[in-house]
Amino acid sequence: MSNQHQYEVVIVGGGGAGLMAALYASRGAKTAVLSKLYPTRSHTGAAQGGIGAALGNQEEDNTGWHTFDTVKGSDYLGDQDAIEFMCQEAIPVVYELEHMGLPFSRAADGRIAQRRFGGHTNNDTKQPVLRSCYAADRTGHMILQTLYQQCIKNEVTFYDEFQVLDLLVVNGSSAGVVAVELATGELHTFHAKSVIFATGGHGRVWEVTSNAYAYTGDGVAITLRKGIPAEDMEFFQFHPTGIFKLGILITEGVRGEGGVLLNNDGERFMERYAPTVKDLASRDVVSRSMYLEVRDGRGINGKNYMNLDVRPETVNKYAESDGRVLPDGTPYRVTGDDILEKLPDIIDFCRTYLGVDPLEQMMPVQPTAHYAMGGIPTNMAGEVLVDDKNTVMPGLYAAGEVACVSVHGANRLGTNSLLDLVVFGKQAGLRAAEFAQGSDFVSLPGDAESYTHQQIDQFMNGSGKEETADLAKEMKSIMMEHVGVFRTEEGMTQAREKIAELKERFKDVGLEDKGKVFNTEMLDAWELGCLLDVAEVTAVSAVARKESRGAHAREDFPKRDDDNWMKHTLAWMRDGKVDLGYKPVSVTKFEPQERVY
Ligand code: FUM
Repeated sequence: MSNQHQYEVVIVGGGGAGLMAALYASRGAKTAVLSKLYPTRSHTGAAQGGIGAALGNQEEDNTGWHTFDTVKGSDYLGDQDAIEFMCQEAIPVVYELEHMGLPFSRAADGRIAQRRFGGHTNNDTKQPVLRSCYAADRTGHMILQTLYQQCIKNEVTFYDEFQVLDLLVVNGSSAGVVAVELATGELHTFHAKSVIFATGGHGRVWEVTSNAYAYTGDGVAITLRKGIPAEDMEFFQFHPTGIFKLGILITEGVRGEGGVLLNNDGERFMERYAPTVKDLASRDVVSRSMYLEVRDGRGINGKNYMNLDVRPETVNKYAESDGRVLPDGTPYRVTGDDILEKLPDIIDFCRTYLGVDPLEQMMPVQPTAHYAMGGIPTNMAGEVLVDDKNTVMPGLYAAGEVACVSVHGANRLGTNSLLDLVVFGKQAGLRAAEFAQGSDFVSLPGDAESYTHQQIDQFMNGSGKEETADLAKEMKSIMMEHVGVFRTEEGMTQAREKIAELKERFKDVGLEDKGKVFNTEMLDAWELGCLLDVAEVTAVSAVARKESRGAHAREDFPKRDDDNWMKHTLAWMRDGKVDLGYKPVSVTKFEPQERVY
C-alpha cells in the first residue's frame, strides 16, 4: 500500500453536513475531511432560499407548528421523534450559525429576517408563516463559507479533490476508506476509528436536475456494495421551479416573496389545486399540478413548462387579492429594488442563462429533480443502521442528503435540508468523536486497496465497446420518463429492465485516457457505476410500493394506503439483485390525516 494516513475521524464530503460534522468532531478527535471538490464548491452552495427555524421574529410561530408541518409535508412517512428533535434544534442552531458570523438578511429591527416557504404554516390560520431564515438567495453558500472558516480555525485537515472509492469494513466495523487523489491518480488509504459519509445526493440519475455534476450517489452506492441497505429510495423530490430545460434552481423564495405560477391562459392555477396556500403548497403537490396543467394542454406555448412571475406589479396584484399584509398590518407591497435585494442570484441566473430579466419578464420553469429523501439509514445520532431491527454498524455515520434519518419521509419541505444537514451533521460529528475516544483502531488487512484496484482496472482494461456518456444519457432519459413525477407499474418496470441492461453494457466501458493525472474520464465512468446502482435500487423500490405518497405518485394506485404502506423501504444489493425489506415509521403525536393545502 502506498499512501497511508491515520485519523480518528474521517469525513467523506465537504458540504454543509461534512463541515458541521468536522467542526464538532475536531473538538474531540483528530479529524480529516476528504472532498471530491474544493469544499466551498459543494452542492450545499446551491441551496438558495433559507433554513427553517420557528424563531417567530416577525410573526407568531413555534416548534410545534414546524414539527407538524414537517410531518404533514412528509406525507406521514417521516419519523416523528426525529422530526421533533430537528425542529427543536433549529432555533439554537440558527443562532449558533449567526454567532459564527453567517451574514443573515435582517428585518427592520435588526433581527434575522424570515420569509414564507412551501408547506410552512401558522397551524391555526393555515396560512403561510415567515419561518425561513435567509441570506438573500445565497443561504447555502453562506453556510458553506461560514463553516469552512470555522473548520480551518479548528485545524481540521482537508484533502481536497480526493475521490473516495471504497469503504473499508473489518469484522463488521468501519475501519477507513480508500481514495484516489485526482491530481496524481495515486491511491490513499485512510485508516480511521470513525467514518462519516456526507456525500450528498444523486439527482444526476435524472435528465433535468438542479443538482451539481458531483451529485452522483457515491455514498449510497459505496455502502450498498458493502451490504448496507438504502432506505426509502423511491422518494425523490422534483422541485417545481427549475429553469426550463436547464434544471437550474429558481428558489421557492420567489414564491415566498409573492411570485406566482401561471399557465398558458395566464391563470394562477395553484388556486385550484391548493386553495388555502396556493403557490406555497408542498413541492410534491405543486410539481404534480404543473404536470397536470401541461397534460391538459395549458403548458406555455404548448410546451412542458409554466411561467413564474415575480414582476412587482404581479406580486402586488396577487398580494392585494390574497389580502396579504405585513406583520404590522400594512398591505404587502414590493418594488423592483425589494426583489433585487432579496433575490439577487436568481435574477442574475435568469439574465445570464436565459436572457430574461425577472423584474420585467416571466421565467420559464419546469419541475427539476432536486432532492433525495431516501439514503443511508441512520438514527438521530447519525449512526448507520444495517437492518430492519436498527442494528448499528460500529464506527460508521452518515449525515445530510446522503442519510435517511428519516426526517423528510416521502416529501421534504423547503428549508428543511439546510436544517437537516447542520442538525444531524453536528450529531454525527459529536458521536463519531465520542466513539473514537472510546475505541482502538481496527487493524486493516494487507489487501485493503484490492477492491479499489479492481474497480479501476475494470475501466482501464475495458473493451471500450460502450461509452460512459451514451449509457448515462439512456439512464437519465428512462428515469425521467418513468420514475419521475408520475409513475405506473408498466413504466417503472420498463425503467428497471433498461437499467439492468445498461448495467450489463457498463461492463464494456473502456477509457481512452489511461493516464493518472486528473483522469476525469475514469472518474465519470466510476460515477456512472454509482448512478446505475442507485437508479436500480430506486426503480425496484418504487415498483414495489403500490400506493401514492409524497413524491411517489402512481397513476395505477392514486391513493395513500396507510394500512399496508406506512412503512420504510429497505433495499439491499445482494448477488447482483435488489432485495427489499421494510421497517415501521415512528409515530409519536400525529396520526395520519388526509393532506389538504
Ligand atoms: O427553493 C429553494 O431555495 C430550495 C431550498 C431547499 O431545497 O430547501
